[in-house]
Amino acid sequence: MVNEKDTNTESVPVRGQWTGHLGFILAATGSAIGLGNIWKFPYITGEYGGGAFVLVYLICVVVVGLPLMIAEMMIGRRTQENPVGAFQKLHHRGSPWQITGWLGVASGFFILSFYSVVAGWAVAYTFKAIIGFTGSPEQIQNQFTELVTSPIDSILWHTVFMAMCIAIVMGGVRQGIERWSKILMPMLFLILIGLMFYGLFFTRGGSEALKFLFQPDFSKLSAEAVLSALGHAFFTLSLGMGAMITYGSYMKRNESIMKDAVTVSFLDTFIALMAGTAIFSLVFHYGMEPGQSVGLIFKTLPVLFKETGPLISVPFFILLVFAALTSAISLLEVVVSYFIDERGWGRVKSTLLLGLAIYIFGLLSAISSITLPFRGKDQGIFDILDFVTTNYMLPVGGLLTCLFTAWVFREADKIEEFGSKGSIYHLFSIIVKIITPIAVIIIILHGLELLPFMNYGNK
Ligand code: PFF
Repeated sequence: MVNEKDTNTESVPVRGQWTGHLGFILAATGSAIGLGNIWKFPYITGEYGGGAFVLVYLICVVVVGLPLMIAEMMIGRRTQENPVGAFQKLHHRGSPWQITGWLGVASGFFILSFYSVVAGWAVAYTFKAIIGFTGSPEQIQNQFTELVTSPIDSILWHTVFMAMCIAIVMGGVRQGIERWSKILMPMLFLILIGLMFYGLFFTRGGSEALKFLFQPDFSKLSAEAVLSALGHAFFTLSLGMGAMITYGSYMKRNESIMKDAVTVSFLDTFIALMAGTAIFSLVFHYGMEPGQSVGLIFKTLPVLFKETGPLISVPFFILLVFAALTSAISLLEVVVSYFIDERGWGRVKSTLLLGLAIYIFGLLSAISSITLPFRGKDQGIFDILDFVTTNYMLPVGGLLTCLFTAWVFREADKIEEFGSKGSIYHLFSIIVKIITPIAVIIIILHGLELLPFMNYGNK
């Protein structure tokens, strides 16, 4: 794995680094794999009608996600800076491109505020699993409604999760997270494989689940579904808000960014598809509705877990919490690293203050009864934040990062970070210059129903 960058003599500031290559891969994979894969992917696939949505999402991962992940890691490793500092360093101090970094810090703040609420539900379900799920399928499903409609419970679990997240980021991410990731990520993988095989071969819903996920029916593909598929590609790969810039900034110089980005994107997609297969097998086995919104996994899986007992359910929810935690700390790390690098605050002070601010803001999402009019109907703050950050803030942040990489990032620096200037680099250049930005712009305009040549009807 020796390449020309080993001979690079440019001095970089002494700053934290992952302990090794595996450490970076696990941390980046840990950031990517989270509630997005196991909670969100199945539920939005259910809402947007299955196969066609999955296909657009997969295309977005390859055409938009992968190139952008490479770009973010390159920016991070080149500058060894937080997202705001990174854009300034590659352009000039005070450069307007720093807005991209700002947008990322804001996205991290807003996303973590509602992410923590869902992660809190996962913590609550860990305890429910220990006690054991009993009763009829309807009774088990009702437990979820009881949890989310009780502000006290939602707030309690949101508090517990944010406290864990703050403690880890405050105490230094690398040691703790790297060490735990090495044990827990492979365990999550094994349990999901088990659940997927169970769903496929031991329930009556397996083949219907595969059809639902992989047989596209384009008549179900609304403009909003296409936009959400793009947004989800950003969300699930932790892109468009500088998380991979931040993690890339702790990366050693002699690793192949392209290989790492391919590995992280592949693992992330694979986990989402496994989770989807497992969950929809159960949905169809029990004759449930696929479009069950945010409650999907919390309503379906416990019905199965009643049969399997705590031996499977307790590890599953513990791992779900862990997957959420490794993602949440990357969200918090983006916000915190900005205050450490740019404002000169200490790690403890920035983590505590920002963590507290996010926690307080998150209370608005935890109390599901607070609603605001949004896109023609009353919606909870939770849904509004999720929709706006995922479908607009991340894609716009990603678009700006892409344009910056294509037209502002110096060619020689890019080649050095990429590790070669052969045909793959040229392909990367063309994609980042032309294909990714055009795809993102078209999809955003389509989501806003503003494309001139489309007939959106009058809905
Ligand atoms: N990728 C995470 C998930 O799929 O759960 C969520 C996330 C983490 C989004 C970090 C954005 C981010 F910067």
